[in-house]
Amino acid sequence: MCGIIGIVSTNDVGKDMLTALEKMLYRGVDSSGMAVVSEGKILIRKGVGKVGEVDRAVRLRDLHGRVGIGHNRWATTGKVSQENAHPHTDCQGKIAVVHNGIVENFEELKSQLIRDGHRFASETDTEVIPHLIEQHLQRGFEEAVRKAFLSLRGRNAFVALHIDTPAVIAARKGSPLIVGVGKGEMYIASDITAFLDHTREVMYLDDDEMVVLQEHPVFRSISTGQQVEKRRVVIGWDAQDAEKGDYPHFLLKEIMEQKETIWRAINQKDEDILEIARTINSAPHTYFTGCGTAGKVCRAGEYLFSKIAGKHVDVTVASEFPNFEHLLNDQSLLIAISQSGETADVLEAIERAKKRGTRVLSLVNVEGSSLDRLSDTSVLLKAGPEKAVASTKATTAQLALVTLLAYATAGKLRQGKSLLFDVAGEVNDLLNPRYEERVRSLAKRIYKSPNIFIIGRGANFPIAQEAAIKIMEVSYIHAQGFAGGELKHGPLALITPGTPCIVLVANDELKEGILVNAQEIKARGGLVIGISPQNHSVFDEWIRVPDAGDASPIVNLIPIQLLAYQLGLLRKTDVDMPRNLSKSVTVK
Ligand code: AGP
Repeated sequence: MCGIIGIVSTNDVGKDMLTALEKMLYRGVDSSGMAVVSEGKILIRKGVGKVGEVDRAVRLRDLHGRVGIGHNRWATTGKVSQENAHPHTDCQGKIAVVHNGIVENFEELKSQLIRDGHRFASETDTEVIPHLIEQHLQRGFEEAVRKAFLSLRGRNAFVALHIDTPAVIAARKGSPLIVGVGKGEMYIASDITAFLDHTREVMYLDDDEMVVLQEHPVFRSISTGQQVEKRRVVIGWDAQDAEKGDYPHFLLKEIMEQKETIWRAINQKDEDILEIARTINSAPHTYFTGCGTAGKVCRAGEYLFSKIAGKHVDVTVASEFPNFEHLLNDQSLLIAISQSGETADVLEAIERAKKRGTRVLSLVNVEGSSLDRLSDTSVLLKAGPEKAVASTKATTAQLALVTLLAYATAGKLRQGKSLLFDVAGEVNDLLNPRYEERVRSLAKRIYKSPNIFIIGRGANFPIAQEAAIKIMEVSYIHAQGFAGGELKHGPLALITPGTPCIVLVANDELKEGILVNAQEIKARGGLVIGISPQNHSVFDEWIRVPDAGDASPIVNLIPIQLLAYQLGLLRKTDVDMPRNLSKSVTVK
């Protein structure tokens, strides 16, 4: 979703703001803009397109000042247009605001503000914010921001500047904002990567808090106005981790990083994993929740826990959680899985669960994210920054951890660790140039197909669904994943001669069944692509994967990720930033 930045500096902020917006491009963007305070005026430049295009059109880089705010918009309320791009201002042009989130009661607020004489220049919900601040300005800028924020409903974060104030003020509820403490420069951004080039020292703004960003930032509770003390935290990522390096795309870099990230994910302290296993074993009900790809990992967890630990866990995608929350109580355990730790539906699910006294454990990649901080216990995936919209290394890290937890819950932590360390080694060997070339040749054969189907059984069924997400989002080819046994109950009608069907095979008791399903596809003329440890006569194409036992979901996913990447390249899509999608879905 939208990326926001505010900088207060002893030097000119223009260039650093532009760079920060470029670093947050991966969150998804359709328009960009910046505002600075300069010689007693607020100067604003904005336009439609990614920040580089907007810069070429209106020279964002020529905005000079010591206080500034910037924004990458991912449209929610109001079409993509120059008028709707942020920053937005009050009637006098003395206040400018950038915003992430949705002001749920904006229509009501806007009508009242218009009745009070305010004039609006855009269709956005955001524009009510500077007008609300203007409305309260006689109380001073800081108090006006606080009052304005209290009028908003929904999950919102904004950063505001005022023509006469040498600071920016930010406030949040729901949407992330993090303060970066630099040398002579203070940052506030929706994302650590925006300022990682300058500092790894951060301070977290929590829900219902605001901060006056100046040489020494002052944090307050929004509801009480009381000052809040904050700790400075040094985060483990460095600027290099968030760069493409020699890779043409983040997506390829992140796929390749799985040579190490699976190993890093499972390299957790035994005591921590055993403690979680004890919690799972003592909880009468364990629920998993997540969205999109992380939701498919949850679903794989259901199979893995059943098979490895003989334990039933319930799974619900986070957006559907309100339908089941009444089943949770103070004895239950909720395990939330997320790369970003900022997905609005996941955060809302855990807030609802916590209100019922349910214990929350999270498996999360971004240290210090809202999910990490709100959970009773969190296990970091340690995958490093994931910038491609399509999740890859975080997904396999999640799968590895869920598999490990299933083993630990079964009292077999050592066995699980040893399996997963072996798999990490095999993935390291697998990701070589010959393998990439093999997947590329398959992509060349199928990239013009309008549909691709994927089937799997057991834990490979949710992996088939995840494979479909990967192929769709990266290549824009329609893809669907099914349980192998479900084919003849409907989807077989879609198989016509040459339709590519990927069959995910594990060398286990389900192998025979999935190969029968492959024969059903073959009999209708479908192109059968086996992802399997062994070749089989039914396969028209075979992509080899290691024989990984219960970790087969991990190894089966890796060639799919490479295939999605190659399909995207052949179809000339934006593989790192697919259309209409955002890396961090901070609105519901
Ligand atoms: C991943 O490829 C997707 N882009 C998307 O489904 C993602 O997994 C989902 O939005 C959840 O994100 P999270 O892991 O950051 O919570």
